[in-house]
Amino acid sequence: MKIGITGATGQLGKLVVEQLKSRTDASDLIALVRSPQKVEDIEARAFDYNAPESMEESLQGIHTLLLISGNEIGKRAMQHKNVINAAKEAGIKWIVYTSLLRADTSTLSLAEEHLATEKYLNESGISFTLLRNGWYTENYSGSIPGALAAGAFIGSAGDGKISSASRADFAEAAAAVLTGEGHEGKVYELAGDQSFTLKDFAVEISKQTGKDIPYQDLSEQEYSKALQGFGLPDRIADGIASWDVSASKGDLYAEDKTLSKLIDHPTTPMSESIKAILNS
Ligand SMILES: NC(=O)c1ccc[n+]([C@@H]2O[C@H](COP(=O)([O-])OP(=O)(O)OC[C@H]3O[C@@H](n4cnc5c(N)ncnc54)[C@H](OP(=O)(O)O)[C@@H]3O)[C@@H](O)[C@H]2O)c1
Repeated sequence: MKIGITGATGQLGKLVVEQLKSRTDASDLIALVRSPQKVEDIEARAFDYNAPESMEESLQGIHTLLLISGNEIGKRAMQHKNVINAAKEAGIKWIVYTSLLRADTSTLSLAEEHLATEKYLNESGISFTLLRNGWYTENYSGSIPGALAAGAFIGSAGDGKISSASRADFAEAAAAVLTGEGHEGKVYELAGDQSFTLKDFAVEISKQTGKDIPYQDLSEQEYSKALQGFGLPDRIADGIASWDVSASKGDLYAEDKTLSKLIDHPTTPMSESIKAILNS
């Protein structure tokens, strides 16, 4: 049965495809992407969330669709609706969607579009599974070079505990669900086994580098301003600072081990993600 993967040229999507190739026949995999020329080894079809007119044709013959949420914040609810409409027309039997941890109660501003997509999936009549992904550890480890240059790790997450996991862990879970049995209709809240504060994260950076890199907790406004100073657009900087504030309220914390159960091994500890960046 054919599996279509949107966002297959993105960071998560590439890892999902690699995982799927080790679990199923590559001839059953179809990348649904804006740039098919970027895809090697598996069939690739043109697919743009903003071009609903061509989607149905690209989805022909596909049984299962992994809908990886888009990255254009503010446009995604409409884009995902386009995909779900086309999937219905094309006769897709099962959609697996990458949502957000506790999208129905989260204060993260990102939750709204995920929740709208979840509701639309529910109304579509197509069988679906929600992978409510928590934070990628890479969201923080990507800031390590900047923190080393500045001599401090900054954020506005206070003492909020964050149960992140690596992108690879979330990708593995997606592949396990797509190729596994009995996942239709399930809502999976996915997060790392280990929880840490940003202070803990800075302590680990200091330990691994031998340098004193303290965590500096800023107000939401101060953090956004600092990010703008690094060249981030205002809207993105405001978003990142507000997500940290949501983290301070516990929105990125989870205790259950659904992710490690799905992938059948512990999630990647943050120390490993830090090591990977320091060795890169
Ligand atoms: N849980 C988290 O911590 C976290 C963090 C960041 C993002 N996310 C969400 O998870 C998704 C996957 O993460 P990621 O790290 O793989 O992000 P990413 O590297 O930015 O990948 C996003 C993918 O979406 C595709 N895409 C964007 N707009 C599209 C459009 N109009 N039509 C078709 N495809 C489109 C991109 O296509 P191209 O390859 O052509 O650019 C790319 O493949 C993100 O898009 C975002 O919704 C989650």
